[in-house]
Amino acid sequence: MYKISPTISGLTAALENNDREFCRKLLSEAGTLRDRTVGGKVYLRGLLEISSICRKDCFYCGIRCSNGNASRYTLSDEEIISASQFAFKEGYGSICIQSGERCDSDFTSRISRLVRAIKDISDGSLGITLSLGEQSYDTLLEWFEAGAHRYLIRIETSNPDLYARLHPQDALHSFDRRLNVLQDLRSIGFQVGSGVMIGLPFQSCRDLAGDLLFLKEFDIDMVGMGPYIPHPGTPLGKECLSALSIPTAEERLSLSLKMVALLRLLMPDINIAATTALEVLDPRGREKAIAAGANIVMPNISPARVRAGYDLYEGKRNLTESPALGEIEIGYNQWGDSLRFKSRV
Ligand code: 5AD
Repeated sequence: MYKISPTISGLTAALENNDREFCRKLLSEAGTLRDRTVGGKVYLRGLLEISSICRKDCFYCGIRCSNGNASRYTLSDEEIISASQFAFKEGYGSICIQSGERCDSDFTSRISRLVRAIKDISDGSLGITLSLGEQSYDTLLEWFEAGAHRYLIRIETSNPDLYARLHPQDALHSFDRRLNVLQDLRSIGFQVGSGVMIGLPFQSCRDLAGDLLFLKEFDIDMVGMGPYIPHPGTPLGKECLSALSIPTAEERLSLSLKMVALLRLLMPDINIAATTALEVLDPRGREKAIAAGANIVMPNISPARVRAGYDLYEGKRNLTESPALGEIEIGYNQWGDSLRFKSRV
């Protein structure tokens, strides 16, 4: 294997290197390392998208509050419990509850109630990950005490200037606030997940190398990162479909797979998800990410009636709920917690 030094320049050079043989070796080496560290099994998290209502206005995201064409829905308690029951019966081991961002007390106390109810139907055995945006310390603590043990919130990009170009300039969309939430999650005791989008406009390989080092320095437990997919109903998406240039779909796929592989080499014992957005660019995108070192898959368990409504990016509504996992061994009925987390606490 070519030596990759875990520095900005070493990682940038690896991301910029498009030599076929280099890329093939990098991905396969990371896959082998995954087998030796976290093991060859892939763990499942049933992904339940409980609401597409969002108070944020991120320039890239299809469910941003100013997108008047987005369809808005909220699942009922019954729908959420029955989807959780389905995941439990199927042996998924854990679920991930995701939603557009809301911070009102109706929403936050409903989540606490639901977390307890889901724990009840599974005798405490179904693991619960939350992915509900930026919340106050007290809310996060309340959810942790209700029984959620993992939380996902992407940093989107570790470059504050790039972050500022992707979000409105106001207190609701602050890079520092996002960082503070990551710190709060860590101090409360959650297993903390984060991640970035890959192939954004104005994003360089150096930025992506910085993202890898950011995840390493934060000592993150879990990562989900995937290609940026322009959404025509968003300001950034419109610009990308006209004037702004971004890497081609093929380049974004290849960059995403290399990011997974390099992160596995940098952080051998964390959990890395093979993300859904990869599948938009390649029907075998998630399998390829697994071969390159990912060990988590999040099959969609949202009821069919709302699938199209959680429309973060173009092409998502047409996806099947789970990838063909073929030969891949699955860790049924297990939480598949991050080994990195276990060794830290
Ligand atoms: N392309 C790819 N990923 C996106 N997300 C939102 N919009 C897009 C898009 N257009 C991702 C963000 C967010 C997660 C829920 O979805 O990274 O954190």
